[in-house]
This record gives sequence, structure tokens and C-alpha cells, in this order.
Amino acid sequence: MSQDNKKEFQLELAKYLSEKDFIYGPEPELYGPIAGFYTYGLVGKAMKNKLEEVIRESFTSNNFFEIEYPLISPQVVWEASGHLKGFNDPIVNCSKCKATFRADKLIEETTGISADSFKDEELINTIKEHEILCPNCKGRFNLEIQRQSLMMKTTIGKDTIAYNRPETATTTYLPFKHYVNFFRGKLPFTVFQIGKAFRNEISPRQHLLRQREFTQAEAQIFISAEQKNNFEEFSKNQNEILPLWTEALQKSKSKPINLTLKEALEKKVLKNQAYAWAILLAYNTFKSMGIPKEKMRLRQHHSDEKAFYADDAWDLEIELNSFGWTECCGIHDRTTYDLEQHSKYSKQDLSVRLENGEKVTPHVIEIAFGVDRPFYALLDIAFFRRENDSQRTVLSLPPKIAPIQVGVLPLMKKDNLPKKAEEVKKELKNYRIYYDESGSIGKRYSRLDAIGVPFCITIDHDTLKDNTVTIRERDSLKQTRVPIKELNEKIGDLLKE
Ligand code: GLY
Repeated sequence: MSQDNKKEFQLELAKYLSEKDFIYGPEPELYGPIAGFYTYGLVGKAMKNKLEEVIRESFTSNNFFEIEYPLISPQVVWEASGHLKGFNDPIVNCSKCKATFRADKLIEETTGISADSFKDEELINTIKEHEILCPNCKGRFNLEIQRQSLMMKTTIGKDTIAYNRPETATTTYLPFKHYVNFFRGKLPFTVFQIGKAFRNEISPRQHLLRQREFTQAEAQIFISAEQKNNFEEFSKNQNEILPLWTEALQKSKSKPINLTLKEALEKKVLKNQAYAWAILLAYNTFKSMGIPKEKMRLRQHHSDEKAFYADDAWDLEIELNSFGWTECCGIHDRTTYDLEQHSKYSKQDLSVRLENGEKVTPHVIEIAFGVDRPFYALLDIAFFRRENDSQRTVLSLPPKIAPIQVGVLPLMKKDNLPKKAEEVKKELKNYRIYYDESGSIGKRYSRLDAIGVPFCITIDHDTLKDNTVTIRERDSLKQTRVPIKELNEKIGDLLKE
């Protein structure tokens, strides 16, 4: 899609998401919006919950345990983690209107050059060379890069300086001693969190993709150096295939290659078994959310692009109609960095004793993503592929993450049909349903198609005679007659398909 078409699509999608109760904002809409804050609306929150269920299921079925840590921690935590010093963005100011922009994003948006890994000098030179002007007033930029901290500051009580967490990961490391006790000191063990994180972005854009407050899902594997290359899950999954876009392939402008985990290790594309498995788990988690395989690739970070804590880093990217290929998950080998830092600052021992008696600080491999990005991706893909004729707009969301699973619609508001519908509602109590008895049946179907409800149950006059109802499938429009008593099971089967 051309840049203009993408822009048009972004606006159309944002409008649709607001009108159909997926996403409201930026908030506070009522008083005047501030960029980077959104509400998951009446439909959107239900879908986000479904998505989190899929993520939770993917992690727990792989033996990860979940915790929930406070969102706010005192300054010392973020000094130890390195975020206070190292977590910032390069910014430039317009000399005329004084507006501030994130330098790398400004370059990316005006020239298409990816400037993520640029040093300050390269950023300035690119702005000069391409004569980039202020998007607001067409003024020239001050040729100086400043640093804007992404940490969102707050106060605890009267005067204790604290910060909203910029990632869940650090706060998953802090109760480490409890994990050692629970898992009886035996590595590897695995813990995850799903929860809010905050980043004081200088100019958040791209709708849900770059917010100041967002939801992360981050899973951590605590493992010894030796186990990284002697990892059971790797052996079980070594023939699984991943689309890997190595640094070399990126530089030669070639496409990603499909390699099995085993091949990726043999060719030294991936450094160790546990890390390879973590990438596979990330990829499978996104597949289970309903992101199509052909829309995903795994991109290796360039050596100068990695976060300050990462020894190895790959991103899972999704091809969006709105923004092109977009980072949606990072898989990082954080080595012993975090536990050593927290041990140093807290003056506590954060090591474990291996079976051979040796005391070691575990390494950490993490799978890090925001829930908001796959949420947006699913809607971006479904909205692009929507069926749209004069009669109806159909959002074909994967049934398992659809916000509402079943519409319950008595054909008419009379002849005891609404009363009979009560029986249907009772039978479907395991599902989120939307009951609607007003207006023409065609219009009611259309409203539910437009928010991706996969199945509608129609109660008609035959229902009164034989206790059967019609299941109408959103995508195929197929209608099947089913006894009310079998509805629960039948809908369950259909949702699994
Ligand atoms: N925990 C890694 C990140 O927030 O990107």
C-alpha cells in the first residue's frame, strides 16, 4: 500500500474502532484528548480479555507461573535495572515553533529510512542531508539531539520519588528469592506477568501501537548457562520451522528464510537451544491468537540496535495494512544482567546452588510484548479483509478472540418468542452473548457481523413447536437447525474449529 493509502486506512480503521465500541480516545475525550491514552470500549475490552486468555493459556500450558507485582516502585529499583540512565529517546526541537519530535521516528516518517540504531551524529546528519523540516510549521530543526527519559515519575506518600514501571519484566525479577523457594532451587523455572506499563513517549502516534500507558505480557525463563544448550523443550521441537530474517539477509535486502530450530542452531543463526525455543514459543503464541503465519517474520536486531540489557535480540514483526511491518514482540537474552544488578543494589544474594554444588546467578531469557499490538493487528487484518457490500460489513475475527461469541435473536418481539429466548440464553451461559429483539432481523444480523460476532441463534415459530433453533454462521451464512439442548456443545465445537 502507498503511504497515502496507509494513512487513509489508519484513519478509517480508527473511526470504525471508535464507532463500533472497540476503542475510544485518545482520552480524556470529554475534556480534550492527550495523545497516547485509550479506552478499551464495551466491545474492545471483551476482545482484549479473550486475547489475554489465549496468551495466558499459551504460557501456562508451557509451565509458566503467573504473578502480579505493583505498578509503582521506588527510584532505587530503576537505578538498579538501568532504566533511569539508559531508557530514553533522542529528540530534536523546531527552532521556530519549538515543537519537539522523536528524531528517529521523524526521519522514519519523512524519509522511510529506519533510524532506530542511529547514533546522535547520524540522526543530525540525516536531518541535514534530507532537509527535514518541522511537520507543524515547516521551520528548521535545531541541530542538536537531546535525550528524553521514558520513565513516568510519581511520588509515594509525601516525598518518596518513584516511577510507574516501564516494563513488567524488571518487576518479575524482584521476587526471585520466592521463586527459588517455590521451585525448590531447581532451574530452569518460568514466570510471567500480564499488566500495565508506562512510557512517557514524547509524541505518541500510531494509535494503540505507541501509547503512554499500555498492557504488557512478558514471560521470563530463569536458566543456568549450561542449560541454555541442554534444553529439553528444544529437543522436542527441533524440527519446527521459523521464518528468520537475519542481520545478513536484511543487509543484502533478501527475504527471511525458513529454518528448523535445529538448522538455525547449526548455522549459528540462533545462539542457543533455550533462546531458539523462546522464539518458537513467541511465534506459536501469536499464531494461537489468530495472526496468520504469512503475516509474521522474525527479525534479528542489528548489533548496535539492542536494548541496554540484551545480549541477543530478535523481534517478531507483523505486516499491518496501516503501518507495514511492525515490531510486536521482542525476544531477549538478558543473560545475568538483571539479577546481578538487583543483587548489587539490594545487597542480597540472588544466586542458586546447582546440583553439583556450584553457586550461580541464573540467566534470563524473556519473551516481551504488549497485548495492544496483536489486538490492533487482528483488527487491522480483519478490517482490511472485511466483506463490505451495501447490505453488510463483516469483520471476520477469529471466533476464539471474538468479543461476543453468540447473538441471541428472537425473530419477532411477540408470540412468546422473547420468552423462549430465555431458555436459549440459559443454555449458553458459558458464552458472552448479545441479546437483541428490536428491529428487522437483517439489521440485527448486520450489527453483529460488523463487530465480528461469529454465530447468531434465531428463535422462530418452529422453535415453539419442536425446541430447535437456527445457528447462523457469520462468514459462510450457513444456517443449521439444532435442538436447544445441544446448543452449548455445538457452539463449543464451532468455536474450536
Ligand atoms: N521487557 C522488555 C520490553 O519492555 O521491551
